[in-house]
Amino acid sequence: MPTYYFETFGCQMNVADSELLASALSSRGYDEALSSNDADLVVVNTCSVRQHAEDRALSHITQIAAHKRQGKTNQTIWVIGCMAERKGETIAAQIPGVNRVIGARNFETFLMELDAYLEPAETTLLSTNQNQGIGKFVPIMRGCNNFCAYCIVPHVRGPEISLPTAAIEESIWSFIESGAKEITLLGQNVNSYRDGDIDFSGLLARLHDIPGLSRIRFTTSHPKDCSEKLVKTIAGLPKVCKHFHLPVQSGSDKILRVMNRKYTRDDYMRVIDAVLRHIPDADITTDAMVGFPGETEADFLDTLSLFNRVRFTTAFMFIYSKRDNTAAAAMDDSVSIEEKKQRLKTLIDTQTAITKQRYQACVGTSLSVLFTARQEEGDKMWMGQDNGCKRVLVSCNEPLAGMILPIRALRSSGMTIVGERE
Ligand code: SAH
Ligand code: SF4
Ligand code: F3S
Repeated sequence: MPTYYFETFGCQMNVADSELLASALSSRGYDEALSSNDADLVVVNTCSVRQHAEDRALSHITQIAAHKRQGKTNQTIWVIGCMAERKGETIAAQIPGVNRVIGARNFETFLMELDAYLEPAETTLLSTNQNQGIGKFVPIMRGCNNFCAYCIVPHVRGPEISLPTAAIEESIWSFIESGAKEITLLGQNVNSYRDGDIDFSGLLARLHDIPGLSRIRFTTSHPKDCSEKLVKTIAGLPKVCKHFHLPVQSGSDKILRVMNRKYTRDDYMRVIDAVLRHIPDADITTDAMVGFPGETEADFLDTLSLFNRVRFTTAFMFIYSKRDNTAAAAMDDSVSIEEKKQRLKTLIDTQTAITKQRYQACVGTSLSVLFTARQEEGDKMWMGQDNGCKRVLVSCNEPLAGMILPIRALRSSGMTIVGERE
């Protein structure tokens, strides 16, 4: 059998795309290889969100191509995703050995290309169980219309499109058939989902009725569209996990305005208050960046004070990275790199202490945990997640995959809770 290997960078959207394409390959008679070295077809799914993400993907592709040139010359290398969209054929020109570059906007093309590529090979349609897994990502929208000043995503993924509710339901049914218990609905801004009369609240209510589905997660929520109605809907739907990922980006009104985020610090705090009023034990997480063009020390201190006030469960924190052709690329990037690094360190140190305290505060309480897999194969530690976003480990000889169990939290180590069955 011919074999494939996927190397995926970037966000969960890319992970979902890779999984979908991998199952398309399986249904066409392909087997998954153990490493890129052994595969007939290597697909690298790339990210462009920060320079660092592009550098990592490029160095990886360079390595794979060098290995191919040294020996296995008949290997096929495809580069897909967001950097493929941004850089296009220059990737193939720069790295000899890359056969095809297919950008994120041409996702549909990929399957056609696949069939054309496979023609001489085996094209038997096999039914496979490729989609096994307790948790599955389900894109409910593609693209983004928000054009935050720093962000490449609308440029590489195109305008926002909501997928039809019926198609979303169909993919969830098929995941459940192959053993999934939890789905994570994906979009750059899930709160703006709309298919006819069905908005995001409506979608959650519909999906809640699917038999066999235990849990529903969703990400990302744009603070400007996270309404109290949505929060109330979520509070009333037991299968929907109580985790809100609400990227704030900055705590300074001046910076939020230049970023084109369309909310103020006060608006953001009102969203947080609404979440906590209806769901007091919700996990709230965020993304933020330091060193956006024009960010003064006072602006940074606003971000820091917002972090101290909200006390997020966890946060992703970045140094602003200039992306060509975005609005911010034309702004005066005056903050020195030393300053940016110092601000990032201060923010990370602050958040790390808060995260530790939040995890510690769970010790002694009972958590409802969905178990997904063993920590390592053959290991008796099982990994799961509580009803918010916390990772939980439990030692157990029996298989726990797919079960939701009440767990007593015994201790916390960093960003993991260790517990036992109640
Ligand atoms: N759609 C999501 C985020 C997508 S990108 C939202 O609207 O929040 C994920 C995170 O990467 C962003 O939240 C932001 O914090 C960060 N990010 C995006 N562009 C960036 C850039 N140019 N430099 C640094 N961080 C960036
Ligand atoms: Fe980027 Fe803003 Fe769209 Fe998120 S909402 S993907 S940060 S443009
Ligand atoms: Fe995701 Fe990176 Fe593209 S964050 S949408 S893979 S630019």
